[in-house]
Amino acid sequence: MPTRAGRRNPRRSPLRRAALGAGLAGALAAGLLTSAAAPATAGPTAPAAPAAAAPDIPIANVKAHLSRLQSIATGNGGNRAHGRPGYRASLDYVKAALDAVGYTTSVQQFTSGGATGYNLIADWPGGDPNQVIMAGAHLDSVGSGPGINDNGSGSAAVLETALAVARAGHQPGKHLRFAWWGAEELGMVGSRYYVNNLSSAERSRIDGYLNFDMIGSPNAGYFVYDDDPAIEKVFKDWFAAKGVPTEIETEGDGRSDHASFKNAGIPVGGLFTGASRLKTTAQARKWGGTAGRAFDPCYHSSCDTTANIDDTALDRTSDALAHAVWTLGAGTAAQPGGEFENTADVPIPDGGSAVESPVSVTGRSGNAPSALKVGVDIRHTYRGDLVIDLVAPDGSVRRLKDSDDDSGDDVVTTYTVDASGETADGTWKLRVRDVYRQDTGYLDGWKLTF
Ligand code: TRP
Ligand code: ZN
Ligand code: CA
Repeated sequence: MPTRAGRRNPRRSPLRRAALGAGLAGALAAGLLTSAAAPATAGPTAPAAPAAAAPDIPIANVKAHLSRLQSIATGNGGNRAHGRPGYRASLDYVKAALDAVGYTTSVQQFTSGGATGYNLIADWPGGDPNQVIMAGAHLDSVGSGPGINDNGSGSAAVLETALAVARAGHQPGKHLRFAWWGAEELGMVGSRYYVNNLSSAERSRIDGYLNFDMIGSPNAGYFVYDDDPAIEKVFKDWFAAKGVPTEIETEGDGRSDHASFKNAGIPVGGLFTGASRLKTTAQARKWGGTAGRAFDPCYHSSCDTTANIDDTALDRTSDALAHAVWTLGAGTAAQPGGEFENTADVPIPDGGSAVESPVSVTGRSGNAPSALKVGVDIRHTYRGDLVIDLVAPDGSVRRLKDSDDDSGDDVVTTYTVDASGETADGTWKLRVRDVYRQDTGYLDGWKLTF
C-alpha cells in the first residue's frame, strides 16, 4: 500500500499534517469519538405513512360506460370487433374521456389479419418513471356480439378508475399507466405488440401489470390471478376485508393480455368473474348464483349485452381494481421520511482493508427510489484517502466517492443515487476504505433516506 504523500501528493506540507492531527485530537477531546460499543440504531426513525385509500368507484359511472359501448355496438353492426368500425368508435370514446381530464394518451397501431388494430395507452403525468404500475383491459369484442361483459366490463372499470385518479388529483409515488388492448380475441395480438415494442429498459421500469378481462359475469365467481404474490395479496386482502371469498383463477391461465407481460418477465395479476365454465354447488353456496350454470352463459354470444352483467360483481371488482392501483402505485413517495441509519463508530484502518457498516431496511414495498439519499458522516484527517461504496442488498456496488488529492478533512455529505433497480428491503452496507497511509479516521455513522 503506497503512502499518499510519497506517490500522489508530494505538495502536502508537514505543517498542514500537524494541523490535521490536532483537528482529530480536538474531535476526540470534544467527545465526538464515541465508544465503539455504542449500539447501532438500524431501523426506521420515521414510520411509513399509510398510502391514501382508494375512492369508491361509482358503479353508475361504470355502467354508463357500458351503455355507451352497447350503443356503439348497436350502431355498428352489433359488435366492437377488431377491424370493425365499432372497435375504433369504442377507442375514440375512451380516449376522449381520458383526454378531457389530463391524461397523455397515445394510439398504437398494428396490423392483424389484414386489418389495422389499435391499442390505447394513457399515462397519468407524475410519479417515478422508473416505477410504473399499469392496469389494462382488452377493448375489442368478438364478432358475434357487443362484448359487454367480455370485455366492456374490464374496459369500463379501468376507465372509471383512471377518471377517479384524475378526480382525486392523485399523485402517487409510482407512475400510473392505463391501457386498452386491441385484438385480444385474435390471440392477445395488441398487448403482445405493445410489450414486444418496449425496449428492455422500458420493460424493466414496469413494476406490475394488472389485467381485467370479464369482471361482471352474470353468474359471478371471484377469481384472483395466481401470479405475482404481492399483487395477488392486494386483491385477496381487499375481498377478505369485504367478507367475499375468492378462488385462484384456473379457467385458462394465460388466456388474456397479462400473458403478454408475464412472458416478458413483468409481474402480473388480475381479476376474473368466470366465462363458460359451470359454477359448482360449493361455489353457488359461497357466492350465490346458480350451480350447474356457466359463470357467463352469454360468453362470446350476441346476448353479451348490458343485460349480461351482475352489478354487485362489477361494483366489487371495480372497487378492488381501484384499491390495487392506489395500493401498488403508492410507491416510496407515499412513505415519506423513511430513514434507516447506523450510528455505530467504525475505525477505518490506515492504508488498510475496507470496513463495512450495515443498515437493515424493512417494511418498504417494492424497489428503492431513483433518488435514494445516502447520508455519510466520516471523520478523517485527509478525505482524499477515502474510497466509499454503497452495497445494495443483492451485493451490487455503487461507487459514491473515489480517492483523490482532496486534502480537506471529514466527509460529511449526502449522496443521491439511482437505486430504482434495487429491492428496498434488505441489508445495505456502506463500505469505506482508506487507500493511503498516514492520515486516519473513522466512520461516525451513515443513513439511508427513502
Ligand atoms: N380472455 C378470454 C376471452 O376474452 C376470456 C377468458 C377465459 C379469460 N379464461 C380467462 C380471461 C381467464 C381471464 C382469465 O375470450
Ligand atoms: Zn373474449
Ligand atoms: Ca490514510
